[in-house]
Amino acid sequence: RWPEAVQIKEVGPRDGLQNEKNLVPTADKVAWINMLSESGVKEIEFSSFVHPKWVPQLSDAHEVGQKIKRNPEVQYSALVPNMKGLDLALKAGIDGASVFMSASETHNKKNINKSIDDTYPILGEVIKEAKKEGKHVTGYVSTVFDCPYEGKVSPDAVIRVCERLIEFGVDDLSLGDTIGTAVPSQVEQLLEAVLQRYPKEKIIMHFHDTRGMAIANILSSMDYGITRFDSSIGGLGGCPYAPGAAGNVATNDILYLLHGMGIKTGIDEKKIQDAAFFIQNKLGKSLPSKSLAYAAAQ
Ligand code: HMG
Ligand code: MG
Repeated sequence: RWPEAVQIKEVGPRDGLQNEKNLVPTADKVAWINMLSESGVKEIEFSSFVHPKWVPQLSDAHEVGQKIKRNPEVQYSALVPNMKGLDLALKAGIDGASVFMSASETHNKKNINKSIDDTYPILGEVIKEAKKEGKHVTGYVSTVFDCPYEGKVSPDAVIRVCERLIEFGVDDLSLGDTIGTAVPSQVEQLLEAVLQRYPKEKIIMHFHDTRGMAIANILSSMDYGITRFDSSIGGLGGCPYAPGAAGNVATNDILYLLHGMGIKTGIDEKKIQDAAFFIQNKLGKSLPSKSLAYAAAQ
């Protein structure tokens, strides 16, 4: 019933940090990402090449990309909204570009200042160029279950966006429960539709844990054969355009679940714990992961 192995992408340095008001010094980010690079995780989203006015925390994306010690076993990707972002990201030495848009009109507009239809030609060009440069391209689709402004989002609306991104040439799709509202029955309904069209290997699930449902939703996704998940160390994070939304499922918690079930990830839980304590100390606040809180109390 359960997969033998699962692949985790660590998105803490991007999704985790992007909403933190207190700027983390570049040197600390670099040291932290270097710790993550040695944990056994194979994919790290290290930053974001968006407008620094929108996400000041990640305005040092270039420097971070230049200074991190690359582990050849790790794929380093970054968020890219347009051609300007792609140019900067390529100069910073990305292995992979993550483009992003929403399945709901209002969230898309608030997040990237464009309608869904106006976003397609921009991402189409980015995807084509990034592929020409030999980069891996992931297409994030946000608000795949619920939109903070419009409510329920239908699987059809999600599929429409997926179809265009696939047509433009993304290698895989990361489906985002941006505000962490989904329950397993919604996950099943969406995956029924998505997996009729795309092989499960192309699908990554990206759960935010606002209501504590992420672990249940991950189990449901695995039941459908999904073996790729995004997570953020310690559960750090939130979305600047989704008020009140919490961070992604904590890497610490998903590892506890998977390893406890005998599912391999290749990641060293202790090293992830150390990296979580490191950033927790730098931020001066406790991160939401329950496994981390338990470890801290020992
Ligand atoms: P815009 O204002 O419409 O952009 O913003 P524009 O093309 O009209 O350009 C305006 C100015 O911005 C110009 O400068 C551009 O050069 C500059 P000026 O000529 O006025 O001096 N500019 C840039 N500068 C640096 N880097 C760039 C860039 N692009 C333009 N890449 C834009 C459009 C997309 C840039 C803006 O809305 C933006 O940066 N949005 C980012 C929003 C964001 O980061 N959201 C969080 C990430 S998404 C997320 O968290 C969800 C996810 O985790 C999945 C999930 O959970 O569902 C992925
Ligand atoms: Mg996210």
